[in-house]
Amino acid sequence: MSQQRRPLIAGNWKMNGLAAATGEFIELVRLSKEKDNPACDILICPPATLISKMADLAKGSSVAIGGQDCHAAESGAHTGDIAAEMIKDAGGSHCIVGHSERRADHNESNATVKAKAEAALRAGLVAIVCVGETLAEREADRTLDIISDQVKNSLPAGATAANTVIAYEPVWAIGTGKTPTPLDVAAVHAHIRKELGTLMHDSAAVRVLYGGSVKGSNAAELMAVENVDGALVGGASLKAADFWPIVETSI
Ligand code: PGA
Repeated sequence: MSQQRRPLIAGNWKMNGLAAATGEFIELVRLSKEKDNPACDILICPPATLISKMADLAKGSSVAIGGQDCHAAESGAHTGDIAAEMIKDAGGSHCIVGHSERRADHNESNATVKAKAEAALRAGLVAIVCVGETLAEREADRTLDIISDQVKNSLPAGATAANTVIAYEPVWAIGTGKTPTPLDVAAVHAHIRKELGTLMHDSAAVRVLYGGSVKGSNAAELMAVENVDGALVGGASLKAADFWPIVETSI
């Protein structure tokens, strides 16, 4: 963690959450209000159907709401898609782009992810650009090359530390209970920061999150790694009782 960068603890609910799940969110908002001036930013990215409702529930708290994906276009004939402008309009302030599940399930290339990140910026959202290697790529010792390629080619034009966050999520660590060692995380995060240095004028201030099987029991160790500025949390973000201990490592 760095003095210069305010940590961001973000939850990605993925395709989970009916209206009843907002009870968990109400509890998270309550916990956040017990803490005056929290030292970190807290974000939940629910399914699109709950953005507006949860943005209303979050009013007056320090918890932000975001989308999990957006289309590159502002509007148009794209059945089933959602524009960054719609996320903003519903009360969102952030949007995840290039999550590995989107890259795998929807064949999203770096160019697609970049276009979506640019759409997020156009709408006034903070883009959370996800990168990460597969197990096969790690075993072939290609991790740093893959990460370089993704960072260089997914970063939106006009990226600044204020409008863009990077999330390093090794694909093999997502939802598996497996995590890289702190040394491995440190190596990749240092590499990402070095790459950002060649691409952005304020790279030292960009937040680089770690994601993949973060939970209360391993969050402190992972958040203590140099150049780790927060977490992107999937499964453990669904229940306030699981998510709050992760927030507490940075608050
Ligand atoms: P996980 O998911 O915490 O359930 O591993 C992380 C993510 O996909 O963002």
